[in-house]
Parts: sequence; structure tokens; C-alpha cells
Amino acid sequence: MLEAKGADPDFWSSKDRDRSDSAHSIFQYPAMMVPIVQRRLMGAVLEVRPDIQSVYDPFMGSGTSLVSGMHYGLDVYGNDINPLAVLISRVRTSRTVEFTAEAVAEQVAAQAKADRRQTIETSMDNREKWFQHDVAIELSRLRRAIRKCTDLWMRRFLWVTLAETVRLTSNDRTSTYKLHARPADVIAKRSLSPISVFRDLARANASSFSTFRRRLTDANWIKSAQYVGQTDVRVGDTRQALDYWGDAAPFDLLMTSPPYGDNLTTVTYGQHSYLPLHWIDFQDIDATADTAMLRTTQEIDRRSLGGASGERAWEEAKLLEASPRLKRFADGLPSKPDDGRSRLVRFYRDFGASLDSILGVMKLDSYMIWTVGNRSIAGQQVPTDLVLGELLEGLNCKVITTLTRRIHHKRMPDRNASSATMREEKILVVRKGEP
Ligand SMILES: C[S@@+](CC[C@H](N)C(=O)[O-])C[C@H]1O[C@@H](n2cnc3c(N)ncnc32)[C@H](O)[C@@H]1O
Repeated sequence: MLEAKGADPDFWSSKDRDRSDSAHSIFQYPAMMVPIVQRRLMGAVLEVRPDIQSVYDPFMGSGTSLVSGMHYGLDVYGNDINPLAVLISRVRTSRTVEFTAEAVAEQVAAQAKADRRQTIETSMDNREKWFQHDVAIELSRLRRAIRKCTDLWMRRFLWVTLAETVRLTSNDRTSTYKLHARPADVIAKRSLSPISVFRDLARANASSFSTFRRRLTDANWIKSAQYVGQTDVRVGDTRQALDYWGDAAPFDLLMTSPPYGDNLTTVTYGQHSYLPLHWIDFQDIDATADTAMLRTTQEIDRRSLGGASGERAWEEAKLLEASPRLKRFADGLPSKPDDGRSRLVRFYRDFGASLDSILGVMKLDSYMIWTVGNRSIAGQQVPTDLVLGELLEGLNCKVITTLTRRIHHKRMPDRNASSATMREEKILVVRKGEP
């Protein structure tokens, strides 16, 4: 079924960028999957396995897999280490939403406009580096107005809109995911009104929500104003997934796109989230969301896979035995520059530990759909898909097929970064075997 579709190299490479029906663009989260592609994949799997009821994404990011699952009425579960990813996904996958979002956002903008206070509502270090004074004043007025909202989903919706407002009005360059301030003369020439930006974004976000909910309603997945399936999104490190998913697991289907290297040398999800998170009330994200994540600009990336040597990691010898391809690749790397080999090995040792947890929460015989990008180190492409295949097969899984998705106009994070060579993605369709 999937193989037959995969015979057409463009079937999974949809140029259809329609992102309006899953509230997809409420925040520009890095490396988002394409909703229509994920939905097609899910549809193909559901044809073969109509008994599937739940989908799990252990690296959920902005929640693309989960909203794809909602289009099929599935129970959707996901976690991510990054609190901003959790906030975005919680907003998108909420079982109930407020249909007055646009009107409420208008009121919030009006209140912020009427507010004359000069107090700055964030205590970040180096604030002057990242925000012009007038911008910080308006963001503070928005933050005060959002706090007055009584409905939690509504506040979360407004926080996501504020997060995107921060991204667009800070002094950080939007062309890279790494924090990098614009030159002083460029900053001085910018004239910005966060309140106006917020109002425009809120309108667009509310409209994309209405479209998403209408689609779900048309498909009969909304009953008494509530999504019919379970939706559960948690803050959590996948290496510990077994500890906190015990109550909801095992899951029927995995759909994910994992990181493909440590954040610092691939995609700095944490740095990208650092400025927005400084303007959001963490307790509105989750009671366990840890503000120490904002200790430095690097902290979220440091806690992510491959960031710092963690306790739960495979031994290097076990890893290299499990994947001869990885061993061959790592052994061929020059020791300089940049310590490429040890970073690569550290990432995969962490990744191995997360595979143990993931397999622990999946049902026997369940399908897993892994979308992976390739990256280069020292000019050589890491065979990410083949390494993943070997690691999974070593854990008694069976790679059923590997599909190729060409990337038509993916936004490149950093022009000169290692990920800039990524022009196609591989999609591994895998079945879990006996432990
Ligand atoms: C490729 S992105 C996922 C993007 C997502 N598919 C989407 O469409 O938005 C990978 C995600 O893995 C998360 N991540 C990295 N290390 C993690 C860990 N140890 N546990 C859970 N999530 C982690 C990152 O924060 C990031 O959101």
C-alpha cells in the first residue's frame, strides 16, 4: 500500500502547502512537518490497520502529527522537552476551544493600547540587547492584558500569539534559529508596534482555528462542542517517557520527526524559543514547566538529546555495535574541527535511550512512521535513515519500507549550517516486534 504510493517519487513530496486547516501557522516552530503529507501517511496506514485508535509523537514540536490524528478522530498523545512546543501543541489539540478568540484578542489589544503603565513585565538578562524600549513597553502591556483573561485555553491561544509577536518584534534576526541580534543601525531604523502585530496575528490565528474546527465538525469528530477523542500533551524528556506515560500507554501508532543531531549543530529549538518564553506565564503552560529552562539561552538545547551527557544514555560500545553504519561513519570523521565525532556519538547515545522508552510505550505489532532529515558533519552526510533503521532492527523492529520526500521549499534555518544540505527527507515505516 505505502510502497505502491512510494513508487511515485512525488507522492509524498506534496507541493500543496495548504496549512490552513490544522491551525498550522500560529507560530513558526522550526522543522515543522507538512500536515498534508503526515495526513496522507496516516490515511494509508489506517487503510491497512483500521483498528488503530491512538497516535503518539515523542518529539511532537508544534504538534503536526497530533493534529493529523485529529483529522481521523484518533486519540492523540505527545510530549516535548521544550515548553514552547507544549504550549503550541496544547492550543492546537485542545478538545474544546473558545470561538470568541478573535473578539477576545481585540479586547486584549484594546486594553493594552489604553494601558499607560511603563513597568516592564519580564526579568530577562540582557533585555536591552533583544528588545527596543518601546517594544518592551508594549509587550508588557499585552502581557498584563492577557493575564486578565479568565479562560485557560484562551490565555494559551493569546500566549502563542504573543510568542509569535515577540519573534517578529525582537531584535533577533528572523533568518536564523540561533539567537543573533541585528546590527545596531538596522535596529534603530525599525519602527514596530507589537500591539498592531499581535492584533493582525490574532485575527489570522483565530481564522485558521475556525477552519480547523469546521473540518473536524464536518468529519463528525466534534460532538457537543468537544473533540471526540482523547488529547494529551505533556512536558517531558522522551528518555523518561515510560515514567510518565504509564497511565495512557500502550499506543497504537507512532508518528514523529526526531531531532537528527544535537540542537546546537543542527536546529536550536531552544534558542528559537528563548525570547518568546520570557514573556509567557509558565504555569499556564503546565504546572511542571520549569522556569530554570530559561537560565541561559542554551539551557533548553543543553537538556535536549545530545546536549549534555545525561544519565540515561546507551554505552558507546553498545551503540556502535548496534549500528555498524554509524560506527563506520564516526570512525571516518576527522577529530577536528568541532569535535564532530564526540557530538555525534553523544547524540546517538541519548537517542538510543529514547528508543528504549519509546518502544516501551508502543503496542506489540504497532506501526511507527519516522520522518528523518539527513545532515552533514565535516562535509559528509550522516546516513540518518540507515542508522535509525539499524538501531530499530536491533531492537526487534522491522523496517517495512523507506519512502523519500523531496523538499520543495523548506525554510533553511541557517544558510551555512550543517542542515543546509538537507534537500530530501526519508520516511521509515516500521513495525514493532517482540521485545
Ligand atoms: C524535528 S522537531 C519536531 C517538529 C514537529 N514534527 C513539528 O511538525 O513541529 C524535534 C523536537 O524534538 C524535541 N526534543 C529534543 N530532545 C528531546 C527530548 N530529549 N525529549 C523530548 N523532546 C525532545 C525538540 O524540542 C523538537 O521540538
